[in-house]
Amino acid sequence: MKSYTKIKDIPNLSETIKDAILLKMNPFEFQDLGKNKTLVMLFFNSSLRTRLSTEKAARNLGMEVMILNVNDAWQLEFEDGTIMNANTPEHIKEAAQVISQYADVIAVRAFSALKDKTRDESEYVLKSFKKYATVPIVNMESSTAHPLQALADATTISELTEKATPKVVLSWAPHPKALPQAVANSFVEMMQYLEVDLTITHPKGYELNKEITKETPINYDQEEALKDADFAYVKNWSSYNDYGTVLHQDENWMMTKAKLGNAKFMHCLPVRRNVVVEDAVLDSGQSVVIQQANNRTYAAQVVLKQILENL
Ligand code: CP
Repeated sequence: MKSYTKIKDIPNLSETIKDAILLKMNPFEFQDLGKNKTLVMLFFNSSLRTRLSTEKAARNLGMEVMILNVNDAWQLEFEDGTIMNANTPEHIKEAAQVISQYADVIAVRAFSALKDKTRDESEYVLKSFKKYATVPIVNMESSTAHPLQALADATTISELTEKATPKVVLSWAPHPKALPQAVANSFVEMMQYLEVDLTITHPKGYELNKEITKETPINYDQEEALKDADFAYVKNWSSYNDYGTVLHQDENWMMTKAKLGNAKFMHCLPVRRNVVVEDAVLDSGQSVVIQQANNRTYAAQVVLKQILENL
């Protein structure tokens, strides 16, 4: 693997998921692979899981890790040809090349601002690093995608499924803030590659980008969609068509034990209890969110391993 900015960068998905599960059983097997190699992690936004699991993954492979909260550094200019006489003292052209001298792999987290759809969809932060850095780039959640999360989700479903074709439902849930579509986008894309029966359920107006959902069925009746589900992946996202808007926070869409049936409950975390999902679900044996979060390490580790093998 050269870089991991999107799911399509994985050369062989089923082998990669199997390798992630093998790494989980023997995390230190490739401790020499990352010797004298450094991962630089750049955060434009907050993180708990991505930051710690990716660092752990790198250290399991013997890498050194450096972390920069980008908001503590010089504010970056991304536009070409700008007269930089305002608030951006450093251009991405220099910054990416300089960081590349300190790093063998650069990982970037930069969420959508949810104000300008065209700008967000251009993925200008991630793509600028890809363009100007001279080392591989890993996406730790960008404007439109969270491929490390999706790989951990696929690994979790592969570990837990007892069926050849499990029924997987992605359900929207209410949330007080406007959240990006990135996690939902990558989950849908990842499930489309797997042998699963995928349905999306959300209130009208919360349709995701049709170029991502493609022919995946959408059912506006949450309870009907969840019938006989094996996995219920719950996530809030703001409107894509009315970009970045919270159309409503219909609390009837909160996931409950009654609606969940016998399905396993999945969520990328962090999750707002009794807003997105009731306590009774999260505190039950049907919730696999802790296992999911653990698999973030092995998803990141298999990605870094494949990148290191290609250096
Ligand atoms: N799921 C996830 O990406 O968690 P963090 O935002 O805490 O990294």
